[in-house]
Amino acid sequence: MKIALGSDHGGYELKNMIKAHLLEKGNEILDFGAESSKSVDYPEYGFKVGQAVVAKEADIGIALCGTGIGISIAANKVKGIRAALCTDSYMARMAREHNNANILALGSRVIGSGVALDIVDTFINTSFSESRHTRRIKIITDFEEK
Ligand code: RB5
Repeated sequence: MKIALGSDHGGYELKNMIKAHLLEKGNEILDFGAESSKSVDYPEYGFKVGQAVVAKEADIGIALCGTGIGISIAANKVKGIRAALCTDSYMARMAREHNNANILALGSRVIGSGVALDIVDTFINTSFSESRHTRRIKIITDFEEK
């Protein structure tokens, strides 16, 4: 799988951990930064991950900041993005099955690295379950077109 990764300074260390984990499993990574723990602005990274996913440069995206809130808000401003902030694996599974989320957002100051990696694995290994959920996603995309 091709995965776009991005974080601000708050998510930098967890991003590196996730990157190593995903590379080890044979995924291809597009890392949009940040490149250090030096303070940066999370919207820029949320937009970059979102744009890569919408342009189909990546199959899905993973975006991190301290809480996961700011970067998910930013990513969700990119047309076509459904970024889901998840704090456990149940949310990650539902985000894929029901919401067809195309970006996983994580808060590095909220969850530990073990939970984060489990969420990541769940997210990338779960598919959209279609049926009634397709209609609901269409309601969102139709609204986005207006
Ligand atoms: C940066 O200190 C922090 O505000 C950011 O990482 C994130 O939590 C914003 O939502």
